[in-house]
Amino acid sequence: MSEQPKLQKLNDTKAQSRLGGGQARIDAQHKKGRLTARERLDLLLDKGSFREVDPFIVHRTHDFGLDEQKYMSDSVVTGWGTIDERLVYVYSQDFTVFGGSLGEVHAEKICKIMDMAMKNGAPIIGLNDSGGARIQEGVVALGGYADIFLRNTMASGVIPQISAIMGPCAGGAVYSPALTDFIFMTRNTSYMFVTGPDVVKAVTHEEVTQEELGGASVHSEKSGVCHVAADSEADTLYLIRKLVGYLPQNNMEDAPFTPSDDPLRMDESLNEIVPDDANKPYDIKEIIRPIVDDGIFFEIHENYAQNIVVGFARLGGHSVGIVANQPAVLAGVLDIDASEKAARFVRFCDAFNIPIITFEDVPGFLPGTNQEHHGIIRSGAKLLYAYCEATVPKLTIITRKAYGGAYCVMSSKHIRGDLNLAWPTAEIAVMGPDGAVNIIFRKELESAKDPVKRKAELVAEYKEKFANPYVAASRGYIDDVIEPKETRPRLINALEMLSNKRDANPAKKHGNIPL
Ligand code: HXC
Repeated sequence: MSEQPKLQKLNDTKAQSRLGGGQARIDAQHKKGRLTARERLDLLLDKGSFREVDPFIVHRTHDFGLDEQKYMSDSVVTGWGTIDERLVYVYSQDFTVFGGSLGEVHAEKICKIMDMAMKNGAPIIGLNDSGGARIQEGVVALGGYADIFLRNTMASGVIPQISAIMGPCAGGAVYSPALTDFIFMTRNTSYMFVTGPDVVKAVTHEEVTQEELGGASVHSEKSGVCHVAADSEADTLYLIRKLVGYLPQNNMEDAPFTPSDDPLRMDESLNEIVPDDANKPYDIKEIIRPIVDDGIFFEIHENYAQNIVVGFARLGGHSVGIVANQPAVLAGVLDIDASEKAARFVRFCDAFNIPIITFEDVPGFLPGTNQEHHGIIRSGAKLLYAYCEATVPKLTIITRKAYGGAYCVMSSKHIRGDLNLAWPTAEIAVMGPDGAVNIIFRKELESAKDPVKRKAELVAEYKEKFANPYVAASRGYIDDVIEPKETRPRLINALEMLSNKRDANPAKKHGNIPL
């Protein structure tokens, strides 16, 4: 019985801690259409699985009257829980306490949980909603950010790191999410920028709203900072749960196996999908969906650089990363943004033992001064580098065009593609028939009696010779030419054949990817 007052004290103190900055501020948060830090964790994690640490912690600052305002747990809720029964570490910034601002103790809490995630090999998920550095704590807050940045960098490639932006995320604070693998944003209630509208106005005289400067639409369509944008906080958290299902716990493990629908399933519609006319677009996602398990494709960067499509799916129950040129947008050409988008995705998959499936229909790199002046050479090299260094199983399907340098880049045999298949519609050549004929037969065409007719003959001849998969197949650059409908069983068979694949790169401190 003597324990009762102590238990009472414990329960009362914990209840107080869970109130964060108090009911009035919780109500204000709800009024803005936002959930609290703890409500978000309830939606993210399996019911009842969250275990909080440091609920009693308080800040140690005396300046600016802060010693008279203390809230237990400070402005971030940290701990661990499960998603589909798999362990994840979490932190969730609490806007009701000093606007979720980051001071010494807030940073210590995040660092503690990141260290645990690293030691125990499980993903870390950060829910961001913060006014940035706690102004009253000065340089100590900046030091706290730097402590987190270091840990983000050390954890990169060791455990998956996922960030969600659920409110403000401004100033240097953006760089912790930016160092993680995936950034999710909620439309209309979250924003990210290095300098806010007021500073922008003072420096450049531009008038811009928070949403226009750094809302979810901007970052998921224009800057590429955001990988997945969702319409509500609940959707954002649901999509994070879905993403985690494709990922291993750490770089020493494989992604979870999920029993699939029929691995031998064939889809007749695939035989008809690629148009005869090589200049006609089609949607590569109409090829991806019938091939993958249950037609489910989790797209990353859906609205950014849409001329390339990347995302996760399962094949025969195995998690795979898909990279696909998109003929429906800019003819699937590789430009700066598409190269960088795909390069980053390839490197993520390689770091986390996720096989890469490449669907190729690419006319080459985008020509023009804009691209050249902004460094398409540098950006294209990133994608090339990423594919070259990747040692996970790499499977390639050429559906139509594989032209020029892009042929080499897109997981070709020469850069360690494990199985390179082509559909009969494939055209593997230095360039398209029209361009090729214009160059190699320029003189003949100039002196021809009927240049139009002669050109048509030469194009037909070139197509017969080169615009097919058989020249490449005769050299072993393509392992087989298959009927499109066979693609699913062939890919699943190949993944199983490669399940013990071992490959390595030379020992080095690290490579020098052309950043
Ligand atoms: C301390 C802060 C704070 C901060 C907000 N608050 N930001 N306290 N440090 N950085 C407090 C407010 O005083 C207020 O306290 C409560 O949080 C809610 O803030 P409001 O302004 O009432 O909320 P709202 O109107 O929704 O505006 C949110 C906001 C705004 C846009 C984030 O608070 C704001 O502009 N804050 C300052 C942002 C900023 O400049 N941060 C420093 C960036 S530099 P009460 O007690 O009233 O509830 C930086 C450097 C990082 O972060 C460097 C890393 C290398």
